[in-house]
Amino acid sequence: MKEQKATNVTWHDHKVTKENRESLLNQKGSVLWFTGLSGSGKSTIANEVAYKLHLHQKFAYVLDGDNVRHGLNKDLGFSPEDRNENIRRIGEVAHLFADAGVITLTAFISPYQKLRDFCRNLLPEERFFEIHCQAKLDTCEERDPKGLYKKARAGEIKQFTGIDAPYEEPKNPELILDTDKYNVEECAQQVIDALKEKDII
Ligand code: ADX
Repeated sequence: MKEQKATNVTWHDHKVTKENRESLLNQKGSVLWFTGLSGSGKSTIANEVAYKLHLHQKFAYVLDGDNVRHGLNKDLGFSPEDRNENIRRIGEVAHLFADAGVITLTAFISPYQKLRDFCRNLLPEERFFEIHCQAKLDTCEERDPKGLYKKARAGEIKQFTGIDAPYEEPKNPELILDTDKYNVEECAQQVIDALKEKDII
């Protein structure tokens, strides 16, 4: 994990608080952290949840793996160190969004439990939902929406998660979405139900 480099920097509390913003938005800022293999449904389900939240007049935003790697994290690849830094930065960004009052959905493989725990610990309890999009590797490989498993099997992509790079299953997630069994709509509804149950919306 990165150490604090800057000295002579002071934390400021602001006049408008998170509680002020949340009462304006009528929701609780939180992070829905989707994790799972490539092709397990993270982005698709996160997008469907964000759409449902929008229909409920809730303010949500999706931070998506491939998109963020075009901008904020364009300097990072897929070595373990780069994946850690990718997730660390996203965790910090998600924390800021949640502090702004936004229901923030992140869709990254995030293969390491240690980094997911780091992201969790940035937020108060009950405001971080680790959501495991669970699908068999075979299913993800069959779906292969971007043709990347095929390339990984052919040796054209190295360190591909599930093939020659590890994925650590969540130890204690708030929610497991069985995307082998349930469709996108059903999984999205399970997330909405969990948010209602925890009084986020
Ligand atoms: S993470 O491991 O650092 O969390 P992230 O979610 O940002 O990964 O990016 C994963 C996406 O990058 C995949 O959905 C896939 O489209 C693409 N990708 C390209 N190379 C790899 C690789 N070696 N392993 C996994 N995904 C890769």
